[in-house]
Amino acid sequence: MHGRANIKAGRDGSLKLGKVSLVKLAAKYGTPLYVMDEDYMRGQCREYLRAFRSRIAGTEVLFASKAFLTRAMAALVRQEGLSIDVVSGNELECALSAGFDPGNVHFHGNNKTPSEIRRGLEVGIGRFIVDNFDELELIAGTASALGKKADIMLRLAPGVEAHTHKYIQTGQTDSKFGLGIADGRADRAVDMALGLPDVRLHGFHCHIGSQIFDIEAYKLAAENMIAFAASVKERTGFVYEELNLGGGLGVRYVEKDRPSSIDQLAELVCSTVVSESKKHGLKVPKLMVEPGRSIVGEAGVTLYTIGAIKDIPGIRTYASVDGGMTDNPRVALYQAEYDAIVANKAKEKPERLYTIAGNACESGDMLIWDIKLPELKAGDLLAVLTTGAYNYSMSSHYNMHAKPPVVFVRGGRAQVVVRGETVKDIMKPQLLPRRLQG
Ligand SMILES: Cc1ncc(COP(=O)(O)O)c(C=O)c1O
Repeated sequence: MHGRANIKAGRDGSLKLGKVSLVKLAAKYGTPLYVMDEDYMRGQCREYLRAFRSRIAGTEVLFASKAFLTRAMAALVRQEGLSIDVVSGNELECALSAGFDPGNVHFHGNNKTPSEIRRGLEVGIGRFIVDNFDELELIAGTASALGKKADIMLRLAPGVEAHTHKYIQTGQTDSKFGLGIADGRADRAVDMALGLPDVRLHGFHCHIGSQIFDIEAYKLAAENMIAFAASVKERTGFVYEELNLGGGLGVRYVEKDRPSSIDQLAELVCSTVVSESKKHGLKVPKLMVEPGRSIVGEAGVTLYTIGAIKDIPGIRTYASVDGGMTDNPRVALYQAEYDAIVANKAKEKPERLYTIAGNACESGDMLIWDIKLPELKAGDLLAVLTTGAYNYSMSSHYNMHAKPPVVFVRGGRAQVVVRGETVKDIMKPQLLPRRLQG
């Protein structure tokens, strides 16, 4: 039904993730609870390194930390030999606190603040991925003031956008990210970077979309990027050393999803990079990729307890859970689809149609619109699958809900890596000035 190799029903009918009973985990840690399969995540990291490095030696795989960042996760990817990308000063601090060598941390974002840039330079991060002219100027100025050199790549908009099943080629790109190749901003940024004495330009970056199923889009993007690098060489003499093709590989949320494998992606990307480099008379650059979702997405399960069940005759039956958009905003944000299993009834037949509603005061707070499950009753345990990416990292305190704990499961054992918040944690930054106390 769900097709995840690491999720199985035990003999007693309770669902297991990586040999650990989810029913027991819920009893021990409460719900909602994020559970992440550490063995799966390590396996994905290794597969990325194997698939790319066996085709282009020295490929750097960066974990896109926005997908799921905790100190334990940063340490895990560091142990596996990946680099990491961050989009804020706080993500940078998290990576450093997990023991990352700053040189293996790359800094993204379309509006890095002066203090984030200064901190990045002071600790000696690997690359700033420069998004725009203002930032380029700011980085160059800060580097000069600190007496440092800034190592940068330019984020380009290669005129390819991918959305799950489709990609589109766009001439000019209307996006808040990057510098368009087609509209000439990419060329101008190269010229500007080459003229800045405290900036070292290493190469070019692009990220064409997320949850991509049609991987042909990567081929087009690589072709456009390498053609651009060749035109820059011809125009200015600058020879790029590094090409970062971003993240975006899709994962399986529901039965109908058919993502490509990491190996298929690596084959297509590496063969394109090699053949296009040859075609343009360029050396094969150092390749970089930065997957997020495909490393952590299918590793995650969120456990909820079923509460109120509301049957609206002839319309639908809502089953409410003790979490929702505050721990998983993806459904409310972009109509994401999920699959689920009743963890304490994993061997029972799904025969009734339910809509799984969250507990936030927002009518769009749904987790799954229509799903067939065994007959539900209050107290049942619902395991929503593929919640490893962009759930914990996008969680909020709406309605002052506490953020759930995160548990890693490895080799049949479970360990808390983020403790659940208490009401004390939520109240801690809340001040009550004297004039409001009377
Ligand atoms: C620049 C950049 N790199 C990498 C990623 C990771 O993408 P994914 O999680 O889809 O692999 C993103 C996601 O938005 C991104 O913006």
